Amino acid sequence: QGEKPAAEASIVPQAVLETSEPAATFLLATLDDGGGEQARQLLVKLPSLVRAVLSRASGSRLTCVAGIGSDAWDRLFAGQRPVQLHPFREIAGDGRRAVATPADLLFHIRATSSDLCFELAVEIVSRLKGAATVVDEVVGFKYFGELDLLGFADGTENPTGQAASTSVLVGDEDRCFAGGAYVVVQKYLHDLDSWNALPVEQQQRIIGRTKATNIELDDATQEPDSHVALNKVLRPDGSEQQILRFNMPFGSAAKNEYGTYFIGYTRAPSVIEQMLRNMFLGTATASHDRILDFSQAVTGALFFVPSQTFLDNYLSRAAPSPPTTPPAHGGTEHGSLGIGSLGRGPS
Ligand code: HEM
Repeated sequence: QGEKPAAEASIVPQAVLETSEPAATFLLATLDDGGGEQARQLLVKLPSLVRAVLSRASGSRLTCVAGIGSDAWDRLFAGQRPVQLHPFREIAGDGRRAVATPADLLFHIRATSSDLCFELAVEIVSRLKGAATVVDEVVGFKYFGELDLLGFADGTENPTGQAASTSVLVGDEDRCFAGGAYVVVQKYLHDLDSWNALPVEQQQRIIGRTKATNIELDDATQEPDSHVALNKVLRPDGSEQQILRFNMPFGSAAKNEYGTYFIGYTRAPSVIEQMLRNMFLGTATASHDRILDFSQAVTGALFFVPSQTFLDNYLSRAAPSPPTTPPAHGGTEHGSLGIGSLGRGPS
């Protein structure tokens, strides 16, 4: 992974680097057999669907990032694959598990208000009917500004500006997929009764920042097993490997369900995988992230987010195939149009 700015200016990423918004919906779907063409059609239409929904709410913002899982990649795009794309690797240690759960497609919808997220989610799901099965839908909300349901400000140390694009967008290391990004999602459920029973002092030591003032604890008080300490992943030269997080709280009082939807964008999945190993398996100086004593990961998946330029080039040139017999399980779903050679993307 280089330090150079990622993509050339002519390559347009998806809306990965947009700011956090008050509302978000996270949709995960698995592709049904033979659903590839319909899913590709949705990916083609996605920008115009976003514009259509937005046109009904002037002054609002709405974005949608589409991610494609490792197995689905070859069913949707012939030709090359992003070099670091692989299925989410489960991590299990001492009763704590970062589970891997099935998902071929991710839609990360962000908007100034939840009606826009809802409307776009309805459009997406209706266009996937018969082609994909929605396996998870999480409606996230902002909670008193930037707080998570544990009561701490979340997202403070996110990189911004050039640092954000350099941390998140693929560059020369995989030229065919420059301007893309990898993304990991995990749905965490919290045991809020136990968490809220802890004195604030102890909560602060677990997170590594103060609760009321959001100041990072200094070296003298920072515990090696705090969430912040375990998620500082350094390069050999001592600089920090950053990721871009847009976590959202979600919950239901009636179901007694309270959670954090973790979503982290990265230029290299290995950075988030290292953070997860630190959290779940510990380090030389920490047995595990104590946040996990109060939080359980119930989903986990990894996707590649191709640049918008890649999607436009690939999909506009790959005309829809005529209906054919669904391919045998695991096969690609391309017709005989020879579009494989178009899968090289912008280069
Ligand atoms: C920092 C909450 C899961 C990576 C933080 C902070 C909070 C927080 C409150 C401190 C403020 C900030 O800089 O954002 C949570 C909660 C999680 C969760 C409630 C779910 C239970 C994760 C996961 C990862 C992660 C799964 C990575 C795989 C990070 C990173 C930082 C951070 C990189 C910044 C560390 C620094 O440089 O100071 N998180 N987080 N978090 N978290 Fe998480």
